[in-house]
Amino acid sequence: MDFLNSLPARGDLVELRLGPLRAWMVCHPELVHRMLMDARTFDKGGSQYDRLRALMGDGVVTCGQEAHRRQRRLLQPDFRASRIADYTELMGEEAESACREWRAGQEIDISAAMMALMTRVTSRVLFSDSLDDTTAAQVRNSLSTIVRGLFIRTVVPVDAPFRVPTPANRRYRRAVDRLHGIIDSVIAERRRGAPRDDLLGTLLRSARDGGEDAEVTEQEVHDQLITLLLTGVEAPALCVASAFSLLAQHPDAERRLHSEVDAVLAGQPRPGLDDLSRLAYTRAAVTETLRHSPPGWLFTRVTTRETELAGCRLPQGATVLYSPYLLHHDPAWFPSPEVFLPERWLPGPEQATAASHRAMLPFATGSRKCLGNAFAMAEATVAVAAIASRWRLHHLPGPVGLPRPAVTLGPRSLPMICEPRSGTPVSTPPRTSSLTPRATVTSRAQDPRTAGDNGVDDA
Ligand code: HEM
Repeated sequence: MDFLNSLPARGDLVELRLGPLRAWMVCHPELVHRMLMDARTFDKGGSQYDRLRALMGDGVVTCGQEAHRRQRRLLQPDFRASRIADYTELMGEEAESACREWRAGQEIDISAAMMALMTRVTSRVLFSDSLDDTTAAQVRNSLSTIVRGLFIRTVVPVDAPFRVPTPANRRYRRAVDRLHGIIDSVIAERRRGAPRDDLLGTLLRSARDGGEDAEVTEQEVHDQLITLLLTGVEAPALCVASAFSLLAQHPDAERRLHSEVDAVLAGQPRPGLDDLSRLAYTRAAVTETLRHSPPGWLFTRVTTRETELAGCRLPQGATVLYSPYLLHHDPAWFPSPEVFLPERWLPGPEQATAASHRAMLPFATGSRKCLGNAFAMAEATVAVAAIASRWRLHHLPGPVGLPRPAVTLGPRSLPMICEPRSGTPVSTPPRTSSLTPRATVTSRAQDPRTAGDNGVDDA
């Protein structure tokens, strides 16, 4: 990460040589925007996406620009604002139940707990509640193993080391096979049962009805589900775990968050849809976590034709990199970038400038911007508020370890001690009918000087 942070001083576009490989790191936010807004020239590709394709098939994350428009149009409706409003209730139910059994003084691996929570939320959204507890645990464990093994596979350009039957390679292979098997049986079970109004339902309808989406094949149904499981679980889990880690290290921010949560929830164990717009500080803390520790920290593109960037000619097939982490830690855009300061995202003296909003790209931008940005912001805000209303988490004695970057960035295991907060709200039984249509989330007032198309301001 220090190496990444050293690059902007070398220029807006820095050529890197990794042995025989050449790549260009884009270090200036305006150039990153230019690249991301021109997805025809800077397409998904390179060894990172080739390896992801081996795992996820040709779904919306990995497909090239040509196939992308249709795929995105197919999935987008399930992530529109009114759908996310429907999901808020189930996010709250799951967050409340994730911390209901915790005991005073207990050591909790907050990363593992958040992986479990996000697996439940995502699987309910993708295929209602068709996963029993054992299968959900298998999904969670498979995802953890895959994510750990994936990064090395995306950066090492040869396959041979991964074909050797080492214990780690065998674990990885087993996890991949298990996840594919679970997805296959979820699809088969749904075909035998009644149609449902969830993302799997959307995919199966499109595969059956044809029409504009006639190209949706059986294989695509599988690929999109595995894609969304892989992208939808880990990043929000790391985000919430990082948020609690950062809050525990910043008592002033933690106090402010607790007092907001207490005032807004007023004794309720979880926020409802209407509370979200009033959880401004909580949302700012989530946003600042995404700035400080963006789960998606490094991505590649490949040029589809010879082009020019920052006055430099890039040949066709050039690998171009961008890193939200690098942009978010550049003091040119964020003063004292290592400091966790949710106030950057609220009106006041520390408020981020328009230039900082341009540099803030945890969800990327352009046509390949995160499909789940608004979903993830709602999910993380609900989880932080529901947990913080009952529990204060603090680190074990000793220095807090730095997260090791893998395919995502964040604490893969983070033991914390939970202490009940005074006035802990009483649990309520889970409410039902989580997926019935509800009112659209009221859009938050945005400051037009600072709001940007970066997936946070517009989420
Ligand atoms: C804190 C949570 C999340 C973060 C930080 C995050 C970040 C990102 C980023 C940076 C990209 C762009 C990657 C690139 O440029 O190559 C992306 C793409 C994507 N994300 Fe997320 N994501 C999060 C949560 C989610 C969730 C919850 C879902 C779905 C349930 C999701 C689904 C996707 C999909 C499908 C794409 C590909 C979009 C396309 O190419 O059209 N993400 N995400």
